[in-house]
Amino acid sequence: MSARLRVGIIGCGGIAGNHIRGYLDSGRYEIVGLADLEESAMVEKDTTFKISPQHYADAREMLAQEQPDVVSICTWHSGHATWTIAAAVHRPKAILCEKPMADTIGRAEQMLLACQRNGVKLGIAHQRRFLPAFTLARDLIALGAIGRVQTIQSFAADGLPNYSSHQTDMYRYLLGDDECDWVMGNIERKTDRYERSTRIEDRAVGVFHFTCGAVALLLSDVTPTVYQGALIYGTEGMINLTTHNLQLLNRDTGGIWKLYEPDGKFHKLADLGEAFEWYEAGAAQAAKLADWVEGKTEHFRGEATNGLKALQMVHAVYESARMHEQVRLPMQTRSNPLDLMVESGHLTPQRPGPYDIRAFLLRGERMASDTEGAE
Ligand SMILES: NC(=O)c1ccc[n+]([C@@H]2O[C@H](COP(=O)([O-])OP(=O)(O)OC[C@H]3O[C@@H](n4cnc5c(N)ncnc54)[C@H](O)[C@@H]3O)[C@@H](O)[C@H]2O)c1
Repeated sequence: MSARLRVGIIGCGGIAGNHIRGYLDSGRYEIVGLADLEESAMVEKDTTFKISPQHYADAREMLAQEQPDVVSICTWHSGHATWTIAAAVHRPKAILCEKPMADTIGRAEQMLLACQRNGVKLGIAHQRRFLPAFTLARDLIALGAIGRVQTIQSFAADGLPNYSSHQTDMYRYLLGDDECDWVMGNIERKTDRYERSTRIEDRAVGVFHFTCGAVALLLSDVTPTVYQGALIYGTEGMINLTTHNLQLLNRDTGGIWKLYEPDGKFHKLADLGEAFEWYEAGAAQAAKLADWVEGKTEHFRGEATNGLKALQMVHAVYESARMHEQVRLPMQTRSNPLDLMVESGHLTPQRPGPYDIRAFLLRGERMASDTEGAE
């Protein structure tokens, strides 16, 4: 059994708990350093997980002092590139950064470059790739259980970068990481809406075409139905996928829905209910990351090249709205097209006054407009 990998966490709020739980459940890591602007966030993690890592108010100091093997980046989106690049300089074995990979394609590319330059493995935490139901759906599709996939339909909310980078990543995962070759879409933005300090739209629709011929349809903030999962229509059957289960309908099921509720390697669905998706995906992601770090596997399902593609698909919807065209991938525009539209006056909010739909996450006297908090 190899020595446990030493982990440092930057940003100790909500999702950091899922990283810590995953690392601990996998049995392959120890948490050595926590960094956060708020001491209370770090204390909360110690109490919840009965751990006693060093606390740092300055993440750069944590990196220098602890020299972790693995660094988790769990700050808000606009901090992902800053902290990934800062961590890469210390040459950990791997960095696991939260989604969306960055706030612009240009910054995401810089993250890849900084990691390549320093020999660091970079993963993006689209953890649903590690859910047993998602993997079963991918495998059934690969085996031809529903024939050729024609359409994937999904329902999202809370802005494209936040919720829908999971969906765009899911489309590719379900299709065996097939490439998305073009995107068309549109958005509405009448209010000055933000999500974790990132500018978002009020509503969006997107169409994504893949080289295998499949098309994915994304409806975001336009329907009361919202969930991570999809309705997948093939030439010879259908799959209804959620984070907990899937239903298959094809000739072999006699034309009726057949339910599958696969357990995970670490947890059982019946034991955890709603928490299953978080606990299982966190632990399975951590275990596969350790295999990659230790050279047991050549590839990691959550490699940053996939994270970049998921972000490009999201930004391509904005670019399609900005340019009124079908956007070919990979995107050439490296700025955030939504920012370009708003800042150029092309899409000035008609109901002015910025507000952040995740402002409730902030501790103490901080507000979503704090530049410090945005990192
Ligand atoms: N993979 C998922 O399913 C999933 C789910 C939730 C959130 N997320 C992602 O995780 C990220 C964080 O979201 P959250 O809900 O945990 O937010 P959060 O506000 O709960 O936590 C962020 C933490 O970062 C800290 N922080 C801010 N600036 C810092 C700095 N300069 N140095 C150190 N710490 C700093 C804050 O004090 C806070 O404790 C977001 O990018 C979000 O998209 C992913």
